[in-house]
Amino acid sequence: MFHLFRIQLSLYLILSLPIFAQQATKPPIEERISVLMAQMTLEEKIGQMNQYNGFWEATGPIPMEGEAAKKYQDIKSGWVGSMLNVKGVEEVRAVQKIAVEESRLGIPLIIGFDLIHGYKTMSPIPLAEAASWDMEAIKNSARMGAIEAAASGINWTFAPMVDIYRDARWGRVMEGAGEDPYLGSLIAAARVEGFQGDDLSDPLTIAACAKHFAGYGFSESGKDYNTVDVGMNTLYNTILPPFLAAKNAGVRTFMNGFNDLNGIPVTGNAFLQREILKKDWEFDGFIVSDWNSIKEMINHGFAENGTEATRIAVNAGSDMDMESHLYIKELKKLVESGKVSVEKIDDAVRRILRVKFELGLFDDPYLYCNTEREKDKVSNASHKKAALDIAKKSIVLLKNEQNLLPLKKSGQRIALIGPLAADKNSPLGSWRLAAEDDSAISVIEGIQSLYQKVDIEYAQGVELIEGDRNFGKELEFNLTDRTGFESAKKIAKNADVVVMVLGEYSYQTGEGRSQTKLGLPGLQNELLEEIYQVNQNIVLVLMNGRPVIIPWADENISSIIEAWHLGTESGNAIAKVLFGDYNPSGKLPMTFPRAEGQIPIYYNHKNTGRPDTNDPKSVFWSHYTDETNQPLYPFGYGLSYTEFSYSPIELSSKSLKSGSSIEAKIVLKNTGKVKGKETVQLYIRDLYASVTRPVRELKRFQQIELAPGASKTIVFKIDESMLSFYNNHLKWVAEPGKFEIFIGGDSSAQISAQFIFQK
Ligand code: NOJ
Repeated sequence: MFHLFRIQLSLYLILSLPIFAQQATKPPIEERISVLMAQMTLEEKIGQMNQYNGFWEATGPIPMEGEAAKKYQDIKSGWVGSMLNVKGVEEVRAVQKIAVEESRLGIPLIIGFDLIHGYKTMSPIPLAEAASWDMEAIKNSARMGAIEAAASGINWTFAPMVDIYRDARWGRVMEGAGEDPYLGSLIAAARVEGFQGDDLSDPLTIAACAKHFAGYGFSESGKDYNTVDVGMNTLYNTILPPFLAAKNAGVRTFMNGFNDLNGIPVTGNAFLQREILKKDWEFDGFIVSDWNSIKEMINHGFAENGTEATRIAVNAGSDMDMESHLYIKELKKLVESGKVSVEKIDDAVRRILRVKFELGLFDDPYLYCNTEREKDKVSNASHKKAALDIAKKSIVLLKNEQNLLPLKKSGQRIALIGPLAADKNSPLGSWRLAAEDDSAISVIEGIQSLYQKVDIEYAQGVELIEGDRNFGKELEFNLTDRTGFESAKKIAKNADVVVMVLGEYSYQTGEGRSQTKLGLPGLQNELLEEIYQVNQNIVLVLMNGRPVIIPWADENISSIIEAWHLGTESGNAIAKVLFGDYNPSGKLPMTFPRAEGQIPIYYNHKNTGRPDTNDPKSVFWSHYTDETNQPLYPFGYGLSYTEFSYSPIELSSKSLKSGSSIEAKIVLKNTGKVKGKETVQLYIRDLYASVTRPVRELKRFQQIELAPGASKTIVFKIDESMLSFYNNHLKWVAEPGKFEIFIGGDSSAQISAQFIFQK
């Protein structure tokens, strides 16, 4: 045994020499990969394409039997290239040690993790962050998460999710940037830059992963994992742009997904992975499958068995197998029988090794394993500050008709009511694999610590959910207990203002959490209506991971704040907005419907041949007979404690020539009493084209802060690229003709102007 270990160790040292010992004059990465690959057996190459989930207390005794023992042996045999869900320096060091010191070639593992909105310090859920429309803050938030994760041994995140979606029933809307491809593209790039920084080999940066390539956000009927059937027009003009933006920002990995797209599971989709991503876009990083998605091609009815699923996935360009264990089992036989070429294996392995080299893992496999750094970086004070910054910026003011907000810091009696008012868990959101439970600042804590003179009484009023609150359990909203109503009504009666914190429990959104009903769950709406009977001065604070449907509240409650799941600093951020120390500036990244039956509802829809006639007697136009076409709150919408006025648009020319640009100018004025920030949005409509085009599309925006009474001229430069789209032949074109532009504070902006584009 000792003898064998010696041989292994010396072999490791000799073979690793060209890899590890040339700090001063390192040959280029591609050469180093070639040297290494020349030493690898077919099994070892396939091993690099295999990813396992964390499997035992890696710092404890080595498992002797079962699945864990097999995984341990596989790492030792060089049959594992990556692991996920191993976290913390000690754990990561322990698994890395097996790969580096016990396997023949000592190739380090790449350690992946779902760092979606923070590691221990939680940022707002990504949908909330998107409401900030603030790329610097979003990038900074990703940066902060990357620093904490990297300091905990992790070197790769499965984020950002850049799927575009229009269906609030889908639980994963919390995880992306909303419905718009332009905003989604900017955010995709910001997040990639935040995670990856400028230098991947910096021990505080990690590789990012654009997912889920592609179409997952269009799962039919909003049901997770469901089939996706979209035309090329939607694929190219709506779904792919954020992926391309991520690629252009240098994202090093992509993940495919669970869905099929137009009949082909994306995991086995050569058109997406080989044609578009690897050939057209020249992506040279690697693609990881989604969890078991290779094997799931059998359920899709696309592969008859594991062997077929493996053949299809590899040939289609899926480089790494996340947890279906099929590559390790089937791939060697497939190569030997000629069904998968050695070139395809080599290509996948080269891609994976490239990213590992870039991460610096071959220069020091323990680069990310430094206990001092871990202590210093995780949950540090500056991260809490960054989390508070983005949390404030993510809040959207939906209504403030009676100016109940901001609240007074003293001299006002406040009743704080609702199941989420003291909740320290839900604000952490749905992806918080490393955060401590109950570690968020609750609303009541935020108010009490920041505004000590405030006279506040609290009553929960009602339970939000029943039973086990843990991830993975079905949630139960069939509640009947109204015993808390009375005490809530009592404190409401005595109050000057009632603040009600209602909404969704964190695990109500996220993977596998699709829903058909999107109102306030349980008895919350009933409680709201009863409180309204005793006191109409209500400020409704919503906490949720998707657009909720609240027509009664919209009609009756004069002040409504959308506060999402805002992460660790949630309560502080909400308190600052409630008491006016932060003037809300968020804008919705997703349309809020009036009724579930309107879904999918989104601002950049087509006009149809029968648009709104404005004739109440007309029947035969594209509408519902029992509900308007209008959303409750449109995309891009959000108010401020001040008001802004927009002048008419001034165009520098009514004609735009190919290769040149024109300018659209408006004057924005703060007409209210306090300083505020407005997001000025520019939408463009192509009035007639060779394919039908959306009624308007977001093309640019600017965030402007103005003192009361101040005004500023805002200039948007318009050029050909902003008029371009993929036509019916999938060519990127701008077609001559008439265009209309709209500028305003949301997607229903009415101030408009027209110009002609000429080639
Ligand atoms: C499945 C999810 O779809 C994916 O987004 C995630 O990264 C993996 N599980 C790993 O947890």
